[in-house]
Amino acid sequence: MGSRPARPSRPHARSEEAVIATDKVQSWVYTEEYCTEPETVRDARDRAEELGISAVSPGAGAALRLLAAALRARAVAEVGTGTGVSGLWLLEGMADDGVLTTIDVEVEHQRAAKEAFAAAGVRSTRTRTISGRALDVLPRLADGAYDLVLVDGDPAEAADCADQAIRMLRTGGVLVVNEALWHDRVADPARRDEDTVAMRELGRRVRDDERLLPALLPVGGGLLTAVKR
Ligand SMILES: C[S@@+](CC[C@H](N)C(=O)[O-])C[C@H]1O[C@@H](n2cnc3c(N)ncnc32)[C@H](O)[C@@H]1O
Repeated sequence: MGSRPARPSRPHARSEEAVIATDKVQSWVYTEEYCTEPETVRDARDRAEELGISAVSPGAGAALRLLAAALRARAVAEVGTGTGVSGLWLLEGMADDGVLTTIDVEVEHQRAAKEAFAAAGVRSTRTRTISGRALDVLPRLADGAYDLVLVDGDPAEAADCADQAIRMLRTGGVLVVNEALWHDRVADPARRDEDTVAMRELGRRVRDDERLLPALLPVGGGLLTAVKR
């Protein structure tokens, strides 16, 4: 480990804005491209674009893989299968015999995800795809049985999904909510549309929940993460 570079002297306020506008954006792009996305994941991402689905960004995918690997996850649940982009990243980080339970209301999306899992050589025993609405399916999943739960479905339902996720997680398990910055609107208090308000409220609830240890990672569209104490 080398020494840190000297902190630049504090620039004049106006030029500091310019530094944020240029250097920060460049750093974010660099962060997103830091881990190379496997070809099978890129193919699933292309399919998501064709179907008009917003998949997790490559940086968010790499963070999900890291969390799954750090937890040695054997049981992961996901709301919002999409075409399998997040699922493929999670599966790569999980234990070899780990099972991803993934829920989506759209049959066409799950069909595309199954094709992506097969193309990536994922054994069929490692995925359990459940077709249905998240809030109908989640209450049927076991208490304290999951190492990680990803919420990436309908933003209006994210808070109720997160409540279910907290019930489903084991102690030490991790809740992840994708798009927690909701198109960069959450940080701007002037934005009051329904989805933005729902995500902002969820962020507050997770932060103030004494059962959880939270961190909001500014990767992709924002990954709200929290360990269940
Ligand atoms: C943002 S996409 C998920 C992308 C996926 N996680 C990925 O990175 O590849 C959201 C998905 O949630 C699904 N969805 C929306 N509302 C839902 C609900 N109430 N229950 C289950 N799935 C839902 C949509 O059909 C869509 O496939």
